[in-house]
Amino acid sequence: MSLQLGRNEFGRQEDKNNVLSREEANAILKDWVKNDKLLLHMKQVGALMHQWAKNKEGKGEDEAWKWELAGLLHDADWDQWPEQHCKKIIEELESRHIDPEIIRAIASHGPLHFGVEPVTKMDKMLYAFDELSGLVHAYSLMRPEGYAGMEIKGVKKRLKEKSFAASVSREDIQDGCQRAGIETDELIGFIIQHQQTVTLT
Ligand SMILES: [Fe+2]
Repeated sequence: MSLQLGRNEFGRQEDKNNVLSREEANAILKDWVKNDKLLLHMKQVGALMHQWAKNKEGKGEDEAWKWELAGLLHDADWDQWPEQHCKKIIEELESRHIDPEIIRAIASHGPLHFGVEPVTKMDKMLYAFDELSGLVHAYSLMRPEGYAGMEIKGVKKRLKEKSFAASVSREDIQDGCQRAGIETDELIGFIIQHQQTVTLT
């Protein structure tokens, strides 16, 4: 299911640096998302975005929070309005005058589905993390030890096995890594390292 957004401009430049607080973001999630699996997925992607901004891009806390917000809210409308994904959350953030960079990243997290190209590093990393994070998590659920001792090669094996977590788009993963200019191995290692501590509460 996908919806072409049909536009390429999101938010307003004058809203730059206007962000939601963590409490405000959590309030949207509480209101919109009843599915714990989806909620955990967004928290995981949010945490990965935060860590990447800080550790790999040298961003400070304020900027890292913007990256995290994009991850935390990118699928917020999927639970209740799948046919309007991700139009609904974009319009919500625009009505709240949120930083256009965050809205753009959400709008471009599935270029093959929504028709918006990832341009900034924030855009590209959200796209690159999204599906791969889901695959790594699915792998942790089938391992008795969970994330403990998980190796990159184990994830790569599952990646090649089309029947494993079949809903995870291998095409998006490959395209996402390519556009981000990052080796799949590096991204998998980063996800294993930073995703395992993320919990629902
Ligand atoms: Fe997602």
